[in-house]
Amino acid sequence: MCGIIGYVGHQQALPILIEGLKKLEYRGYDSSGVGIICLDEPKIMIRKCEGKICNLQELLKTHGLPESTIGISHTRWATHGVPSRVNAHPHSDCSGKILVVHNGIIENYQELKSVLVKKGHKFLSQTDTEVIAHLIEEHSEKDFLTAVQKTIRQLRGAFALGVIHSDHPETLIAARIGSPLIIGLGKNENFIASDVPAILDRTAKVIYLKDGELALLRKNLVQVYTFAGKSVRPKIDQVSFTVGSVHKEGFAHFMLKEIHEQPNVLTQMFSSRIKGFQIHLEGLQLTDAELKGFDQMMIVACGTAYHAGLVGKYIIEKLAGISVAVDVSSEFRYRSPIITPKTLILAISQSGETADTLAAVKEAKAKGAKIISICNVLGSSLARESDGVLYTHAGPEIGVASTKAYTAQLAMLYLLALKLSRVRKKISRKTSQELIKDLKEIPSLYQRILKHTQSISRIGHDNAHFGCFLFLGRNLNFPSALEGALKLKEISYIPAEGYAAGEMKHGPIALIDEYRAVVCIAVQSDTYEKMISNIEEIRSRRGKIIAIATEGDDSIKERVHEVIYIPSTNPLLTPLLVALPLQLIAYSIATKRGCDVDQPRNLAKSVTVE
Ligand code: M6R
Repeated sequence: MCGIIGYVGHQQALPILIEGLKKLEYRGYDSSGVGIICLDEPKIMIRKCEGKICNLQELLKTHGLPESTIGISHTRWATHGVPSRVNAHPHSDCSGKILVVHNGIIENYQELKSVLVKKGHKFLSQTDTEVIAHLIEEHSEKDFLTAVQKTIRQLRGAFALGVIHSDHPETLIAARIGSPLIIGLGKNENFIASDVPAILDRTAKVIYLKDGELALLRKNLVQVYTFAGKSVRPKIDQVSFTVGSVHKEGFAHFMLKEIHEQPNVLTQMFSSRIKGFQIHLEGLQLTDAELKGFDQMMIVACGTAYHAGLVGKYIIEKLAGISVAVDVSSEFRYRSPIITPKTLILAISQSGETADTLAAVKEAKAKGAKIISICNVLGSSLARESDGVLYTHAGPEIGVASTKAYTAQLAMLYLLALKLSRVRKKISRKTSQELIKDLKEIPSLYQRILKHTQSISRIGHDNAHFGCFLFLGRNLNFPSALEGALKLKEISYIPAEGYAAGEMKHGPIALIDEYRAVVCIAVQSDTYEKMISNIEEIRSRRGKIIAIATEGDDSIKERVHEVIYIPSTNPLLTPLLVALPLQLIAYSIATKRGCDVDQPRNLAKSVTVE
């Protein structure tokens, strides 16, 4: 995680750095800092503080920095060392001439630090980053570029770096391996950033620095080298996307706004992807013959995207008859997956920058697999690593809790499953057409659910005092239960577990008493009767039950404390509908408890460390 932005050019660096940093705050927000070279002396000067970037802005009002045309800045998500001013970046060396910002983890920092301490270096922070500054200092008898190159070769792990040196006030050095870093090319100015949106209003000309590459930037020069020192001719890309609106538009939080955007996101997806009853998956880059040829799929994803993948397994197996394995990305690469030429890997990620998912994809690629991805962010690292990309086009998702990106991933998985089933002739044309018709109804059913936002929020508020929640579902709503629990715990900090309802009697039932709340997904389906039996089991143990049921199911009211109804639809599509009340429950409980729903503690929107 962490966001980096650096500048060298003809303009004042500070406003550019702060403005860019604000756009990277989704990567971490526990502390931030900025460092410039004061060109009169020249010397480095830094300002840093704990908390969000607005705190840094406040600090700069009272403790400003002199004018400068070169600087680096950073927003942090702590890995080594608590969030604090001292641990915030940039970090410096003993001479106070070198400044470093870093994203990623230096795995061998302890051993490097021990050697440096023995040599007399004094460390101020608990971070792994600080070793980089001291190592560069160690190599400072060489020129700046060589000193950084020598340092980098000593580092193990994944990292993106920005470095400046007051003896070289015209030079900014950047390097990456594992963690993303781009270079923005301007007129008499150049930038480095963790992500394109941070600089997109300054330049659309970018170099996506590759793993194992280092760049030297001056205001009118960019040179790229491999870590081994070989000069590289970089590819310059012209970014064609724009960054969409990032305003709350009258909603109290981005999360609430994004929940309400879901009807629109799906309407747009269906209108561009469904023509008549044909599914169009532009970007997939697989012919029908290739789609017929695969005999297994492996889905890799993290968090909410993993839950979407689990729903994907149920629907792809059911509709297309292909066996699907779903792994959390961080486990995939360590379990020796058996990948054959007939395996299709599907990576799912909102950001397309999730380090675990990228690592899983690289692992699968190395084994010769074909990679496709479902991704929201255009031009992301995942998109660039994939053979084919299905963009969800859900628009920027700012709230850390994934909402519209999740339902967009689900919708795309339905389209993919339908496409696969048609080319493999697994379901009849009639069944496929009926399902497509039902799918196209979903946005209007969303509108109907969202009309009940207030009554769902009332249920959330009334139950916000519970100290523990269980979420239960069966079959393709088992992943919905996992997602409901994740949503609640990440924004309200209430312990919440998602379980397959049938598994409850194998352990979790021990938790149930009058102090636990249980959210039961009891929508009409083949497993409805079994879910009702589970509800009875909870009732007999005095658990407080909130049911999500299908409109018209009046009898369930007698068995539970609260019911949230969703409109009736094809049972196969219910995960799409169930998601909304689950999001609203989590949101209303978290806001009732006064939590920062858009930027929950300890989290970041994009998880770029493994
Ligand atoms: O950007 P990605 O979809 O790859 O992110 C994966 C997870 O980090 C993400 O879904 C996370 O679990 C969300 N905070 C959940 O709301």
